[in-house]
Order: sequence, then C-alpha cells, then structure tokens
Amino acid sequence: MSDKVTLEFNGNKYDFPIVEGTEKEQAIDIKTLRSATGLTTIDPGYKNTGSCESAITFLDGEKGILRYRGYSIEELAEKADFLEVAYLLIFGELPNTDQLAKFHADIKKESHVDEEMKKILDGFPKSAHPMGVLSSLTSALIAFNPSSVNVTSENDMYHAIVRILAKFPVLVAWTLRKKKGLPLDYGDDSLGYVENIHKMMFKRPSEDYKSNKIVIDALDKLLILHADHEQNCSTSTVRIVGSSHAGLFASLSAGISALWGPLHGGANQAVLEMLEAIEADGGDTKKYMAKAKDKNDPFRLMGFGHRVYKNFDPRAKIIKVAADEVLNDLGIDDPILDIAKGLEKEALEDPYFVDRKLYPNVDFYSGIIYRALGIPTEMFTVMFALGRLPGWIAQWREMRLNNEPIGRPRQVYVGENHRFFVEVNKR
Ligand code: CMC
Repeated sequence: MSDKVTLEFNGNKYDFPIVEGTEKEQAIDIKTLRSATGLTTIDPGYKNTGSCESAITFLDGEKGILRYRGYSIEELAEKADFLEVAYLLIFGELPNTDQLAKFHADIKKESHVDEEMKKILDGFPKSAHPMGVLSSLTSALIAFNPSSVNVTSENDMYHAIVRILAKFPVLVAWTLRKKKGLPLDYGDDSLGYVENIHKMMFKRPSEDYKSNKIVIDALDKLLILHADHEQNCSTSTVRIVGSSHAGLFASLSAGISALWGPLHGGANQAVLEMLEAIEADGGDTKKYMAKAKDKNDPFRLMGFGHRVYKNFDPRAKIIKVAADEVLNDLGIDDPILDIAKGLEKEALEDPYFVDRKLYPNVDFYSGIIYRALGIPTEMFTVMFALGRLPGWIAQWREMRLNNEPIGRPRQVYVGENHRFFVEVNKR
C-alpha cells in the first residue's frame, strides 16, 4: 500500500503523505498543499474533509459501527451508565469505583447556579424556544464563573468541566419548568446523576418525587446514545469556536445553537411534529411518502437519512428496542406510533429510500420515547444537548490539549473582480 499520493499540476509533481488512523482509515495530508502548489481545495459541507485527528469516537457509516474510546455503543448502552460514559469520553478510560465517586462528588459540589441567573431566565417569554434559552443561559454562565473561561492547565479544565456538567442540567430543568409554569428548584445530591436530572425536571411542588426505574433507565440509555458522534455540525462548531480560545462555556453555547437546526438535533422535534401533522391530516402515510419523493416539494421525511450512516444507524437499532420496552412497560398506546411504524415499513420497502440508503436514524425513535416519558416536544432537542454535553466537552478538551490552530477555512472567491466606486447620484 502506498504511503503517499502524487498530484500532477502544471507539469510539476507533488507528493503528499497518507495518514492512517488506528482503524485503517486513510487520508491525504494536505497541510502543505497551498504553500507547495498555490492550490486550495473546495468541499462544501466538508463531506471529504477531516478537520482533525481524534481519539474519542470511531464510526463507520457503511458498517453501522459506533464506538466511544474503542467500546461499542451496544455494550455501553447495555452495561454502563451515563456518568461513566461521560468520564470515558472526556478522560479516555472507564473510571474505577473511586474515580467515578470522586467525579460525581466534584460535580455535586458545583450544582448551584447563581440565583441572579433566574432573572435572566425571567426575561424570556414563555413561548421562547428552549434551545435558544439554553444557549443564552449557557453563555450567561460565563459572567458568573469567570475563572472557567481562560482555562489552559488540565486542572483548570477539570474544574470548568465539572462545573458545566453540574450546572447544565439545572439550566435544562429550569428551562422546562419555566415553560410549564413550575417553580425553579435545585436537585437532590443523594440521587444518581440522571435520576437527579429527572427529578429537577419533573418534581411537582406539592408532591413527593417518585422515581421510576424504567423511565430513568430509558433516559440514561438515550443520553448515552447521544453522547458523542465525532465531527458533526455542532461538535465541529464547538471545536472551531474553542479554537479561538473563546472558552468552554462560549464554545458549548455555540454548539447548542448548531444542534438546534432541524437537519441536526432539531430533527427529533421535527419528527414528532411531522407525525402529529400526518395524524391531523387523516393519517395517510402514502400521501407523505409521495411528498418526500417529490423533488418540487420541500417536504423531507424527518428522521430518515444520515450524512454518514448509509446502511443503518446503530443507535436507531438500540433505541427501537428501548422504545418498544418503554411503551410496553408504561402501557402506552399512541396513535402517533402506528403512523411512525407505517412510515418506517413503507420507506424500508420503497426504491426511492432503499436506493438512496435512507434508513430511520436515532431521532426517528428518540422523539417517540421522549413523548412517552412526558417530555414536551419542544424539549426534545434540549435532551439531545444534555446527552451530547460530554461529547462536546471531550472534543473541546482534546482540541485544546492538542494545541490545535484556530479554525479558519479558505474559499474560492466567485464575486466581482476589482471595480471602481461610483457616486450615488451617478448610479
Ligand atoms: N426525505 C426524503 N429524501 C431525502 C431525505 C429525507 N429525509 N434525506 C435525504 N434525501 C434524499 C435527497 O433529496 C437526495 O436525493 P437526490 O440524490 O435525488 O438529490 C439524497 O437523498 C441524498 O440526500 P442529501 O441531502 O444529499 O444527504 P446528506 O448526507 O447531505 O443529508 C441529512 C443528510 C440527515 C441532512 C438528510 O438525510 C435529511 O435531511 N434527513 C432528515 C433530517 C434528519 O432526520 N436529520 C437527523 C440526522 S440524525 C441526528 C444527527 O446525528 O444530527
């Protein structure tokens, strides 16, 4: 196997080394391309461009493989809990009992959010989308935790990391509670990380909180499945913002905004809204299949297709089983589910979807579980953000520890050539 590629341009030959990853992925190292040849590359959507070398998550879209730090998503979803997975992603190894206990204890010590933050939340209308609120609150946290901004040593990074892992769930819970008109509250440090999040979100003021193992397990699994996904839109955003040394919280706030979009994390909300719209329109799935295939119709079947998974999404397989379990255990009979099942069956048999390798992705099922757990549709993407938090942190930390240069893509300019200014009265 050759360890270089040769480019021939204007009669000259240039060699570029091949970089090989631990899973034998190969890439052309073009760091010297521009200085050697004067050429740049063009690759809209970065479909062929590796932005970094990363040791966090491996995925093979053709084979449907997803691994965090070498461990398969199937094994982690079955055997680990979310906090263990967070530690694994961020620090590279599964924690032992003492490490996990210390990590959790350090997080608990930081679980207080400055009361002044409530005033900021108060300024938002109830109708505000929770993702916008969450992104703003995450940014606002910087003002209350200035020592978490310019973190360069591993120790300072650690403190910023436990701080955000502690405070972010409070912001998530407050965002939901404001929407529901419930009093803003704190959690209970005697509970597990995910159980505490659930309590903070759902505890009613006049009732004792009752934990439900099925619900907590399903939530834990969903958060694990969403915890990292290598260089996707929001993660690349976190890394690129962080590359300017803007700080962890500012980078995360930008990542939340990127995740908001319906082509990325917002798809889980879009799936449910689509299913509800189909139901309201009489439940005719065939009509919507036809719309999805019509090139003159902007409608897309939300929850289908993926930029990298071209055979199946391994997360979707796990979550489909979890969805069935949760719905059975909670005894939920939801007409939306029949529509989802109908669409899934038709799409999997339809040449348009089969030929383009469009399979249900993780978000096709996650919305169905969130709905069964009583989480409002507008909060779905917030739940995705909660799950993705450790992944964003891990990617940001790796980028900083590797001393990566500021992200600054080039372009090919296609505008006007030089022209002279014309006074306004002469135009
Ligand atoms: N419904 C109908 N047609 C589709 C769909 C869809 N959901 N997705 C892709 N296509 C068609 C597309 O029109 C194109 O057709 P043609 O080749 O005839 O022009 C072909 O399939 C390839 O699509 P693409 O847009 O070039 O593929 P992409 O890799 O750029 O986009 C995607 C991937 C996820 C943005 C897209 O499949 C999509 O919009 N899906 C619906 C939104 C969704 O579910 N997003 C969540 C992704 S999973 C969560 C996450 O990891 O962020």
